[in-house]
Amino acid sequence: MHEVDVIIVGSGLSALIAAQSLCKHKKVMVLTKGHQTDNNSILAQGGVAVAISKNDHWLEHLRDTIEAGAYHCNESVAKKLVQLGPLFIKKLIDSGMTFDRQSSGELMLGQEGAHRKRRIIHAGGDATGRELMTFLQRLIMQDVHIVEHQTVQELLIENGRCVGVLSCDAQGKVMPFYAQHVILATGGCGDLYRYTSNSSVATGDGLAAAYRAGARLTDVEFIQFHPTLLHSGDKVAGLVSEAVRGEGAILVNERNEPIMEGVHLLKDLAPRDVVARAIFERIQHGEKVFLAIDDINQFEQRFPTVTSLCEKAHVDLTMKRIPVVPGAHFLMGGIEVNENGETSIPRLYAIGEVACTGVHGANRLASNSLLECIVFGQLVAEAVLSKQDYAQTRRATYEFNASCSLSFPTKSMIQQQMTKKAGIIRTEETLKQLIEQFGEELDRLSSHAFSYTNEQLTIVNMLTVGKLIGEAALERKESRGAHFRLDYPFQCNEQWGYKRIIKQIQNPK
Ligand code: SIN
Repeated sequence: MHEVDVIIVGSGLSALIAAQSLCKHKKVMVLTKGHQTDNNSILAQGGVAVAISKNDHWLEHLRDTIEAGAYHCNESVAKKLVQLGPLFIKKLIDSGMTFDRQSSGELMLGQEGAHRKRRIIHAGGDATGRELMTFLQRLIMQDVHIVEHQTVQELLIENGRCVGVLSCDAQGKVMPFYAQHVILATGGCGDLYRYTSNSSVATGDGLAAAYRAGARLTDVEFIQFHPTLLHSGDKVAGLVSEAVRGEGAILVNERNEPIMEGVHLLKDLAPRDVVARAIFERIQHGEKVFLAIDDINQFEQRFPTVTSLCEKAHVDLTMKRIPVVPGAHFLMGGIEVNENGETSIPRLYAIGEVACTGVHGANRLASNSLLECIVFGQLVAEAVLSKQDYAQTRRATYEFNASCSLSFPTKSMIQQQMTKKAGIIRTEETLKQLIEQFGEELDRLSSHAFSYTNEQLTIVNMLTVGKLIGEAALERKESRGAHFRLDYPFQCNEQWGYKRIIKQIQNPK
């Protein structure tokens, strides 16, 4: 039988930060669905937003976070994020992490959308996520048991408490793993959409499992679409960091006309939702959109990751035009947690993108996500360490039914429907169609008693989360941040200001 003190599900940055803070005191096991490097953190380019320079202050970072968040942030938790940020970053640097520095030794600071100051620290040029992950993997290697190719199918709840997970390996063997504490760090759900910057493992699994177990989900209507994914053929070939616009690139159409003129005061560095919608509307009208990089010196040195993605996609950088489309990037909502990562189910925690602390409001400020992982990864560890162990009760056996022969919808069908009906622009009509269609599929697939394979479960998770996104988006009859309703195009503070939509199953099994 597998039994440890803490199970962490997922292997991105928040998981590794929590594991590193816990592993000297507790027996920690990390379960991850693919290889340990299959996650979004490793793909993060821009960097970490942090008010660390002498001419910056966390109060200014807070103001930018709240404004980009369209006045939907939990301001006290956002304050904690930006206030603790410099402290936790200094701790990381003291433990050996290296960020890019100027020849004077000062940290290099990048610029991104909706930040009034240059405050993005980065590593390896535009390989910040990869550098951070490599550093942490080395730190925890000796002390943390990382088990790959384990798909968590369900959370085990006994006497109202989370006592472990039921997980399935690559050969289809299902088994329980028990722990005093379970931390979900499973990331978001970008792969529900046709175009995404996310890894293909981001199928909403943690959200769906927590929902089935009875946890509260909130704000799931707020999906951020990154304005600039590299467009190659009819596919996306990775992210083109917002830091590229921070260094002077501008968005143009085929006729070289700047498209952000007159759209927002901050033009190309407007909040992401504004830029993504502006590009989307151009594309809807048959135009193509490019990042014009004429004004960036030494592009290849500053942006090695983007350069390599362009080379692989056969985009000739000497032409100084990078073709882009917007795509799903980040879920602001998620499993509702308090500022210590505790969910509505005792002993179940959530951190990183799968969690909703409310710090990002309706639209996350650029490069606040790695900061979120660093800060809340440590705070969740402190919450775990503050709790006493208890004597666990547990079910003796689990029943596994025969596998099923029903036909399942394909991933690509779900992605098409989400993109069309709950994408950058939504309406009551499209959302109702989506909810009905996904609801019927879920009813059909759950009306028989059988066990899902990992592939089948992924589809069920995608349908579950897609339907929840549709329902929340239908309920919010206004437009705010990343949630844009064509039939309710204005932000309505009187009725919707700071109001959160909660999704919770009534009778969890
Ligand atoms: C980017 O580099 O544009 C992405 C960073 C982020 O999502 O904050």
